[in-house]
Amino acid sequence: MPASSQSNFLYGAAVRTPALITDHPYQELVARYCDLVVPEGELKWASVQAKRGVFNFDKADAVVDFAKRHGIGVRGHTLAWYAALPAWTKDMASRQEAERVLEQHIRTVVGRYAGTIRSWDVVNEPFPDDPRSSHDLRKSVWLEQIGREYIPLAFRIAHETDPAARLFINEYDIAFAGSRFKSKRDALLGLVRELVNNKVPIHGVGIQAHINADRQIDSVGLQEFLHAISSLGLEVIVTELDVIDFSLPADIQLRDALVAAKAYEFLDVVCGVAAPPAVLTWGITDKYTWVPIYFTRADKLPNRPLPFDRNMRPKPLYSVIEYFRYRGRR
Ligand code: XIL
Repeated sequence: MPASSQSNFLYGAAVRTPALITDHPYQELVARYCDLVVPEGELKWASVQAKRGVFNFDKADAVVDFAKRHGIGVRGHTLAWYAALPAWTKDMASRQEAERVLEQHIRTVVGRYAGTIRSWDVVNEPFPDDPRSSHDLRKSVWLEQIGREYIPLAFRIAHETDPAARLFINEYDIAFAGSRFKSKRDALLGLVRELVNNKVPIHGVGIQAHINADRQIDSVGLQEFLHAISSLGLEVIVTELDVIDFSLPADIQLRDALVAAKAYEFLDVVCGVAAPPAVLTWGITDKYTWVPIYFTRADKLPNRPLPFDRNMRPKPLYSVIEYFRYRGRR
């Protein structure tokens, strides 16, 4: 995923169906601004293999077709995660069975889009909050059935299926100040180091960056983390940027300014170390955002976490992204 010669990094966003098919202004916005898209849920297990052994790619294909029509690249999200699993995965009764299921899923999904989806979040959110060490993995059917070997296994199968694909481990809560966030960085770094030492085909780390506007960014901690990842020869990309505004003041101008300032603080650290190859926001317009599912505001006002407002007009957050995207270039 090289950044184009005119910009420091590719910009992209998570997109969702059916809006991408039905909402014309939304389609125009995505087509105009995105170098990359990632399906917000359409490639998760629950969407692709709701019924055991029956694969359905209708929704994922709709995103991929849209991207192809507009010359936009596609990232894949996600192959081994604790969430968005269909209920039948609970019926897996042995390590062998779970390995077979994981392998078949990854081969089928990655294989279908080989050459089209050039980068994958292979493992998503492997750690719990406040992990004690890199061995303290988040509970999931994969961990229960396979043990921590599910991680290298997922990477190896993805790599075998599409050797050209760039493979990432993706995690949240990486940027903040405080001991539980340092624990997350340390655990992730420990795991990534182990994978690299064991010659597991991993190419980078995705920093989700759902940035809670209340929390402080740990500039030094984040810088150290970024340097450590890059000294292992891996890339860092920003995969799911948005600013969680649930406790910011109601006033829209002020709120948008504070959201933008928070993103500035984060991107300034990231881009100060090295421009990442790509920055993606988790959604592009406030019209379609996951944030209210978990972070509804007490005053019931709609959240404004994304670079464009509900009417597809750019907000200060977009100016911040654009600033870093073109800094030093024009
Ligand atoms: C979220 C989607 O945006 C929601 O629509 C869905 O209901 C739940 O999942 N981290 C991730 C994403 O890696 O997959 C999550 O997406 C948001 C947090």
